[in-house]
Amino acid sequence: MAANNRIQPVNMATSGFKANPFPFYAQLRAEAPVYRMTANRPADNPLWIITRYNDVAAVLKDERFVKDLKNALPAYQMPKAAWRPAFFHLLDNNMLAMDAPDHTRLRAFIHKIFTTARVEQMRLRVEQLADELLDTAAKNRRFDLIEHYALPIPLITISEVLGIPRADYAQMYRWKKGLMSAASQPLQRLGRFANFLGFANYIRALCHRRRVDPQDDLISALAQPDENGDRLSDAELQGMVILLLVAGHETAVSLISSGTLALLQNRDQFDLLRQNPALVKPATEEILRYYPPIETATDRYAREDVTIEGVTIPRGGQVRAVIAAANRDPSQFENPEAFDITRENNKHLSFGQGMHYCMGTPLARLEGHVAFNTLLARLPTLRLDVPPDSLIWRSGLTFRRLETLPVTF
Ligand code: HEM
Repeated sequence: MAANNRIQPVNMATSGFKANPFPFYAQLRAEAPVYRMTANRPADNPLWIITRYNDVAAVLKDERFVKDLKNALPAYQMPKAAWRPAFFHLLDNNMLAMDAPDHTRLRAFIHKIFTTARVEQMRLRVEQLADELLDTAAKNRRFDLIEHYALPIPLITISEVLGIPRADYAQMYRWKKGLMSAASQPLQRLGRFANFLGFANYIRALCHRRRVDPQDDLISALAQPDENGDRLSDAELQGMVILLLVAGHETAVSLISSGTLALLQNRDQFDLLRQNPALVKPATEEILRYYPPIETATDRYAREDVTIEGVTIPRGGQVRAVIAAANRDPSQFENPEAFDITRENNKHLSFGQGMHYCMGTPLARLEGHVAFNTLLARLPTLRLDVPPDSLIWRSGLTFRRLETLPVTF
């Protein structure tokens, strides 16, 4: 059993915790690297939290941990799931929630189409977008960097890649935002349900249109059969589009906004990058390490009893590998609490590992490189417009991202 008793239980999903989770992760790494978390959970259904670099990397690669609980437990041991309308499964019906062989098949579809060459074609467009957005934002001396820059760059980019018509962006984003917002009260749940209906119907209709009338975009390419005649079902296509849309921008919003915050908090690094734009590649990797957009990798379940660091996670146990903790493990990174844009050999785990390794890394990196270099070149006197302590981080276990980032120049 882990040495849990000295550790003060915390709810890792609260906004307050997310403001500075790093001291807690340091304590877990040192004292309970496989931590049996019961805070806000029934004692007989703990969440196993993994924090050391080597263990996080190993768990993400270990096929004894599966994504679908049905592949971990026999049917008679499956917990009773709360009832949900069938169409809600659209949200889970994607490869990030699947195991082989379904996962392998879906991943191959994307792999062939969403290539690095296709992404590189987007560079000029992303540069143009970043410039246009700053032209507008900088008309005011103070603005919210997320609303006017960090959000629209990835949202418009992935929407254009997928082939979502421009006229639909605003409505689609309202639905998606409502859908992802916290809903603890019945009325809020009703609102979320309405948003989901709007969003799901929209995606369904768009996929259908692209199936019958293909355009030069990713949805149309995914809708066509591959060279062996295999074709995504309607549900698979819709699930894929939703995954790409959500995974393809929420994370990059965080990369650009948290990255700007890290640079503003470390003015010497801001100035170093501004004077040496070629450093943007290692700088982006350091930002990903220091403030990873995905703080904890998504749920995995043990398919059999698995022992890590002397602690046995029982079959069916739910596991979270904490990327943000691994990225600051002193056994892997020299001086891990320092933000150093010239860091070498930066093997952060922010894009995951193993079979679910992020499929959007070329696009995410391209967006980061363009966003940081454009921002620093255009607004060299940029600074925070509020005290850093007043910044609000979004609640939730998986993502780490600011609500707003008020800046001035
Ligand atoms: C800075 C930006 C991004 C970060 C930090 C990031 C991070 C990650 C991580 C950590 C995972 C694995 C999660 C797990 O194993 O639990 C993942 C999976 C994935 N990401 Fe990203 N991502 C980013 C951007 C993107 C973009 C731009 C796209 C697509 C346009 C994308 C598409 C995907 C897909 C499809 C998967 C699932 C892969 C699979 O299940 O095989 N990501 N991402």
